[in-house]
Amino acid sequence: MPHILTRKHKDIEITNNVIDGVKFNYIAHSTYEDKICVSCEGKNFFLTKLTKEDNHLIKIDSSTRVTPIKIVKQALNAYAKICGAEVLFSNASNDNNRLEPKKEYLKEITYFVDEFSTTKDICVEVGFGSGRHMLYQAEQNPDTIYIGLEIHTPSIEQMLKQVKIKDIKNVYAVNYDARLFLEFLQSNSVSQVFVHFPVPWDKKPHRRVMSDEFIEECMRVLKVDGSLELRTDSPNYFEYNEELLTHFPSYKSIIVKNQDLAISSKYEDRWKKQGKDIWDVTIYSKDESSDIIINKDFSFDIKNNISQENLENNLPQKPVVKDGYFVHMEHLYVINNNKFLLHLTMGSFNKPLAKYVVIENSQANYFQSNPIPTSANQDAHKLINELLNKAIV
Ligand SMILES: C[S@@+](CC[C@H](N)C(=O)[O-])C[C@H]1O[C@@H](n2cnc3c(N)ncnc32)[C@H](O)[C@@H]1O
Repeated sequence: MPHILTRKHKDIEITNNVIDGVKFNYIAHSTYEDKICVSCEGKNFFLTKLTKEDNHLIKIDSSTRVTPIKIVKQALNAYAKICGAEVLFSNASNDNNRLEPKKEYLKEITYFVDEFSTTKDICVEVGFGSGRHMLYQAEQNPDTIYIGLEIHTPSIEQMLKQVKIKDIKNVYAVNYDARLFLEFLQSNSVSQVFVHFPVPWDKKPHRRVMSDEFIEECMRVLKVDGSLELRTDSPNYFEYNEELLTHFPSYKSIIVKNQDLAISSKYEDRWKKQGKDIWDVTIYSKDESSDIIINKDFSFDIKNNISQENLENNLPQKPVVKDGYFVHMEHLYVINNNKFLLHLTMGSFNKPLAKYVVIENSQANYFQSNPIPTSANQDAHKLINELLNKAIV
């Protein structure tokens, strides 16, 4: 990650200064580091300034990281210029002007929250790994959109290389936890959901993809007669899934053992060589589901002005854990007497979200953008609003 190391220096003067296209907005102070709020090419983010003996280390703040990385480097170089201190080390040179590869088939989760819409058939693959199965399907069915969810970044890179080589145009990769993604798909819009060789998580079953909630969510997004297809070599996972199905006695399901598919994944080849059994469990959606409305309102309703004392003394120090969501007030920064920056983590335990809230008098707003509107983030937001109001005494 780009950073610079300078000799210790005084805070820069913030007077709406713009240097080399970078605007310095404010500095938020805390006992162990500062956050410097900058704007560049229409994007707002923080630089973190840490003190290390006689030096300062200035680096990107990971929760507000922006792309392309050249913007961050531009901000670091502008900071080095404006602070006037001796630069001891920098890896923020922007000289090579390297073009970042375009990843048109890699989509941010926000794309599915705000933009995605199609009249085409949709299939979803959970944990596509090397992508062999999904790419095969996409080549066979060019008029269907395949949405692949994967949390392992090298697998995504590898799959996208194949998309380019094979000139496939109907695949979207999303680096997101499959258990949370389906919330953003419309009801009755998907034909098939594939879950092939999920990690069995025998010692931590709560991390498994398949669960009551996941099956219910699949049935909501699936069209009538659409299918959720689990393929596994794990006897434990198979039995666990059979047990899950007993919670849904009215769902139609079909179990097939050692069925050959047209394409075999890397994992499958390995298990077949070892003579392992493979189970397919297909569950069918039978009813039309009602539409869901995604609540994107993340506004705060703070009853009175909030002081530094209120925030320091009355906010909970430890995570507040509720059923299915949590809030952890991590750290407070002071911008001036009336303006504060609160760093917090929130939302679901599977995919916690780190955010900053800027608080000024009785106004509060999320920095950069509102949280992704999952139900866990919505619940956590309401709790944050409640905790901020409780802090005013
Ligand atoms: C055992 S591999 C199987 C890969 C592929 N389906 C195959 O058959 O070769 C499981 C894959 O699921 C991914 N994965 C695990 N949990 C996930 C989750 N919650 N959301 C999305 N992907 C997940 C892992 O990163 C891994 O690539």
